[in-house]
Amino acid sequence: QQTAPFDYIIFGATGDLMMRKLIPALYNQLRVGHVPEEARIIGSARSKLDNEEYRQRAREALNRFLPDAHKDADLIERFLKKIQYIAIDSTKYESNWGGLKEILAQSPDDRIRVFYYSTAPQLFEAISENLHAHGLITKQSRVVLEKPIGTNSETARAINDGVSRFFEEGQIFRIDHYLGKETVQDIIALRFANPLLQAVWSGEYIKSIQITAAETVGVEGRAAYYDTSGALRDMIQNHLLQVLSLCAMEAPSSLEADAIRDAKVNVLKALRPIPEEAVSAETVRAQYVQGTLNGEKVPGYLEELGEESHTETYAAMRAYVDTPRWKNTPFYIRTAKRSAHKLSEVVVTFKEGTSKLFGGTPGADRLVIRLQPNEGFGLSINVKNPSAAGFGLQRTALDGRFAPADGSLIPDSYERLMLDAVRGYPALFIRRDEVEAAWAWVEPTLNAWAADKAPMEHYAAGTYGPEQARQFTAQTGDQWHEDMAD
Ligand code: BG6
Repeated sequence: QQTAPFDYIIFGATGDLMMRKLIPALYNQLRVGHVPEEARIIGSARSKLDNEEYRQRAREALNRFLPDAHKDADLIERFLKKIQYIAIDSTKYESNWGGLKEILAQSPDDRIRVFYYSTAPQLFEAISENLHAHGLITKQSRVVLEKPIGTNSETARAINDGVSRFFEEGQIFRIDHYLGKETVQDIIALRFANPLLQAVWSGEYIKSIQITAAETVGVEGRAAYYDTSGALRDMIQNHLLQVLSLCAMEAPSSLEADAIRDAKVNVLKALRPIPEEAVSAETVRAQYVQGTLNGEKVPGYLEELGEESHTETYAAMRAYVDTPRWKNTPFYIRTAKRSAHKLSEVVVTFKEGTSKLFGGTPGADRLVIRLQPNEGFGLSINVKNPSAAGFGLQRTALDGRFAPADGSLIPDSYERLMLDAVRGYPALFIRRDEVEAAWAWVEPTLNAWAADKAPMEHYAAGTYGPEQARQFTAQTGDQWHEDMAD
């Protein structure tokens, strides 16, 4: 449904995220009729570009990143007319804020303004302060903060404090694009819309839950950022702990933002702490070395970086949620760059049956929620093997798709989130207490790793990760999904 007219002001507008995600997302939302004709997009960064030069970059980005089915030359030109560009050094009070003010003054005073900070988080407070000092923050303004929100609890708190000097918590939208993925929201649908699953969704029936986000890409052009971050900060502190919260939370009292966020933060707060001395037993970290991916030789992380580094490109952790629902059920979370496949999924392994009827124990039922690609789920269960003599069993899988019923493509996560910010609907954004609880849980691991209290393992690019990760799951009688027979 179409939003009210808005001005979207994006800082960091010449960056990779803007070109790869934000511009295509807004275009697609225009294409499906959600963006009103009066809407404007104002990109800002330090580079001196005029509107036409900037629009040309945006045009190239659309041609490169849109799926062919969504490219419409006339619509692209109509969309580009909505975009303006203004060069501002956003940390400097004396920069061209007056120019931005003039542009914004062309809209009615009560026009919704969304300021999107697609910049390094160290700039968030300064941008907010300058917006405030130049009188650009109105009652109808909101601010979207890109990750990472800090590098530990202390810096996260400082960033949150800095921004909240100028914006109310209700105006602050902290983005975690995993929550914008339709398939991540499917976790809520699967769990709470199906009594069948609801009845067995606890440690009483579930043996373990695995959450994986694996990518084939290395660090591409982002080494400068990535090397200061690493897999734990880049993926686990935010995306994977959010997915874990949705898997482990109690039913929210409604789908209102605070009900969902209360339910999630209760999980984050119930994560059993991993003290520094337990980190080497409860986590695995690793770096990729040279290997083969899709038939091609790819260099190792250190070769790509060109220098020594202690940053992990693979991280696996064992988590326990100390709530009555989960007791001692292990949650395994892992993420990798240069993995064998690009794949994000949740694997729920149920406890093995106890029936003696079939000789031996029947294999464990398993639900695989495929977040991407092949978005959907598979439920693998035991059935009778019709060709076996006697009463042999075989495995079969029920396969379901999350694709829209009308055959269209699943929208990209940023499409939903960017317009939710316009609508002022924060359910799929992270509240301050969630960010801080997530940092508090990962922090002892970060510290122990920084102090080299856990070994840095290695894996060849194009493989699923280090051998040590296998032994790690075996400790609780579990296996990673790729090692399972079905
Ligand atoms: C980002 C990380 O938040 O998520 C990237 O900074 C990562 O390193 C990306 O590649 C993965 O997102 P997706 O949607 O491709 O799983």
